[in-house]
Amino acid sequence: MKAFTIAHYSKKGKLQLSEVAAPILQDNDVLVQVYATGVNLLDSKIRNGEFRLILPYKFPLILGHDVAGVVVKAGSKVRQFKVGDEVYSRPADHRVGTFAEFIAINENDVALKPKDISMEDAASIPLVGLTAWQALVEKANLKKGQKVFIQAGSGGVGTFAIQLAKHLGATVATTTSSANTALVKSLGADIVIDYKEQQFETILKDYDVVLNSQDSKTLEKSLSILKPGGKLISISGPPDPDFATAIGAPWYVRFIFKILSAGVRNKAKRLNVNFSFLFMRAEGKQLGEITTLINAGIIRPVIDKVFPFKETNEAMAYVESGRAKGKVVVKVK
Ligand SMILES: NC(=O)c1ccc[n+]([C@@H]2O[C@H](COP(=O)([O-])OP(=O)(O)OC[C@H]3O[C@@H](n4cnc5c(N)ncnc54)[C@H](OP(=O)(O)O)[C@@H]3O)[C@@H](O)[C@H]2O)c1
Repeated sequence: MKAFTIAHYSKKGKLQLSEVAAPILQDNDVLVQVYATGVNLLDSKIRNGEFRLILPYKFPLILGHDVAGVVVKAGSKVRQFKVGDEVYSRPADHRVGTFAEFIAINENDVALKPKDISMEDAASIPLVGLTAWQALVEKANLKKGQKVFIQAGSGGVGTFAIQLAKHLGATVATTTSSANTALVKSLGADIVIDYKEQQFETILKDYDVVLNSQDSKTLEKSLSILKPGGKLISISGPPDPDFATAIGAPWYVRFIFKILSAGVRNKAKRLNVNFSFLFMRAEGKQLGEITTLINAGIIRPVIDKVFPFKETNEAMAYVESGRAKGKVVVKVK
């Protein structure tokens, strides 16, 4: 089959379109023919080697963390899916590789694709949808009437997280540039701050939750807008010791994360607020709940651009520009 691979870590290196062996199906796997795949900054960060400490990969590696497609084969122990099902997924770490014609995925990481949306729309959802879900529902336990600050509301995570937070009944503040104000308002954002003109920390106060996706300066400022007991969940680092424990990392990784996050953890302690790092994980059940919200018209995919398969490198470069409005998708079939 055809797939986009890397032979080693390389900053800004190009993915190679290669002929590779078809995936090997395990008993609990479904073999999915890839119709469309979403592109994420995680693909670039893995290619650059930024995750080698926590996610060491073997080469050649097929990149790609989001898929929508059709089940073409089911392993002997698969119970939830059958050949012909239209599905979508964020495959588990160490089993990624959606920039390809086929991928084998454990059925527990798969969900039925939302009914009335295209394969391209569906492929835009899993990674960012699960990230928003695990941050706002699982970690923050965001409730009706609470206030949440979602940074970069026009990005892949932001466009989904705003809609999910509104569904949960929260008041949503977000940052974006003026060109994207109308977009984030259309998704339900209540307070929109143009980050090029205004300082959010002078406008927002007594927030219950922050979803942090930007740099360390933004993270520090965001701690100060929380009310006592408020929660900041960061998806852009720094990783903390709890995360090292959760992934079973060796002692020296835990030690490195302890040092990296010491400043922010100390500041959070002084302000009597909670800091935690989230690295999202594959989870078919949660993705199934997301399917229900999309089928009900509560959350809609937001797509900036769809690239043909042969332009996967261009799709990666577009995402790396940091200017995407919603998601970037590659049409494979
Ligand atoms: N830990 C995890 O599990 C996890 C999961 C998903 C993503 N992430 C990370 O989260 C970050 C965001 O991911 P993403 O996919 O949402 O990114 P993205 O889609 O590439 O974000 C692009 C958007 O960010 C906006 N933006 C850029 N700089 C901004 C700023 N200073 N303030 C506010 N908005 C700004 C841009 O709007 P303008 O054009 O208007 O500037 C653009 O619409 C990345 O670092 C990604 O790696 C982590």
